[in-house]
Amino acid sequence: MNIDLSQLSTSEVYSTMAQTLIPRPIAWVLSDNGDGHYNLAPFSYFSAICSDPPLIMFSVGKKPDGNPKDTRINIEKRRDFVLHIPSWDLLEPMNESAATLPAGVSEIDAQGLALTEFSGFRLPRLRDSRLAMACELYQIQEIGSAPQALIFGRILNIYIEDEAVEKNAEGKLRIRPERLDPVGRLGGPNYTKLGRIMNLPRPK
Ligand SMILES: Cc1cc2nc3c(=O)[nH]c(=O)nc-3n(C[C@H](O)[C@H](O)[C@H](O)COP(=O)(O)O)c2cc1C
Repeated sequence: MNIDLSQLSTSEVYSTMAQTLIPRPIAWVLSDNGDGHYNLAPFSYFSAICSDPPLIMFSVGKKPDGNPKDTRINIEKRRDFVLHIPSWDLLEPMNESAATLPAGVSEIDAQGLALTEFSGFRLPRLRDSRLAMACELYQIQEIGSAPQALIFGRILNIYIEDEAVEKNAEGKLRIRPERLDPVGRLGGPNYTKLGRIMNLPRPK
């Protein structure tokens, strides 16, 4: 089958891309609403894009009513945010945090998620997330006809729970993917876990 994207509606293009570019990691982003509550939302149009400076990027669409999503508004206003990589045990609260809640209701309270101090950073992190990145806004770019906001964030500090880190024979830091147990996003409401891990050195 050959799929000509120019013949598809925007939602069909989205559905096709979301089912083919798989699995995607999920950026579970905490930002400050400025009213004493924190906002939490998942984004899977997300990737690492640069090491110097250390940058990630995630792409934020509009709300169904055409207004910008709260994550974008908060990051544009206050610049700092915390990006978590959800592990499989957090799949359900991660998914639930995508719900649109009435103003003043935080996804964190609604899901009964606990926060803890992120050492050296203004914002807290989710206590039960095994990995969290303290980030500051690097740049926002708008792209496409909706348009989407591409949020570029600079990673300042990474929290990883001790159990997910070990040193290899040369004393180099190694992060244990099986302990991070990240949720992978597939198309629609489908998710996947890590499968077989194999070691394949690069050819010289
Ligand atoms: C797993 C998952 C991945 C998502 N990825 C994106 C994404 O990449 N971009 C986007 O705009 N919305 C994405 N969404 C939808 C947002 O999470 C949702 O619109 C959320 O309510 C936005 O919250 P906010 O208005 O508090 O920022 C995703 C939802 C789920 C469940």
